[in-house]
Amino acid sequence: MSYRTIQAQPLTPTIGAEITGVDLTRPLSEEQVADLRQAISDHQVIFFRDQPLDPASLKRVGLYFGELQIHALKGLPDHPEVRKLHADSNSKHVAGEEWHTDMSCIPVPPMGSILYLHTLPPMGGDTVFASMYAAYDALSEPMKAYLEKLTATHDGKLAFGRFDPEGKYPTAVHPVIRTHPATGRKLLFVNRGFTSHINGVPKDESDAILAYLFKHAENAYFQVRFRWTPHAVAFWDNRCTQHLAVWDYYPHERSGYRVQVEGNPADYASAA
Ligand code: SIN
Repeated sequence: MSYRTIQAQPLTPTIGAEITGVDLTRPLSEEQVADLRQAISDHQVIFFRDQPLDPASLKRVGLYFGELQIHALKGLPDHPEVRKLHADSNSKHVAGEEWHTDMSCIPVPPMGSILYLHTLPPMGGDTVFASMYAAYDALSEPMKAYLEKLTATHDGKLAFGRFDPEGKYPTAVHPVIRTHPATGRKLLFVNRGFTSHINGVPKDESDAILAYLFKHAENAYFQVRFRWTPHAVAFWDNRCTQHLAVWDYYPHERSGYRVQVEGNPADYASAA
């Protein structure tokens, strides 16, 4: 795969590439944006080093790829589209400790997320990404045929309920097997963080199938593990990946900012 304005160094045969030849702190040309879009389609998650972004420039990068989700409560006062991500010795939990696809509990989950970290612990704090194309491809043909007909419920309470059990959380129904709108590839779309049950089958069947699929999706052969350096950026396609933030660095600090690019409602129109 070659691009007009960037270079991509794949990190595994399956998922992930490190991108060079672009300066994200400066405005991007149409050609650069097209190349980055293509690189995301090709590699599912792309990484950049040495990009000293601030909230405004991170927001600008995100806006090249779509509208950004606005967080009335969690966004920065001057940039409600930008959320701070921070962990230190006072943290009781961190975002993304469990394998998940961001916000799959809403009808139109984000198309992607861009995470920038400026402060890293002395070691650890990696993020692991898994390809749901690879997870789908590795299923047996009978299992693919069985799953193809099913939908699953994704429930925000699974991910967030432990912080406020009385809170109200969104739920959404998605096909268990989806087709990626840009690549046309099939992928497995259930995740441990949000998927509560498969619809229309007995609970014990749903529990057993989901337990199998969660374990299957977490196979190391489908993964890339990103070792952060200060001012690195990860941009993942949330439609075909899951990820896990490894919190092995307590009590050290890990800090940065993130934006989420809105999904396209038309891509989810077929959800039951
Ligand atoms: C997340 O799960 O979105 C956070 C990822 C990370 O902190 O590495």
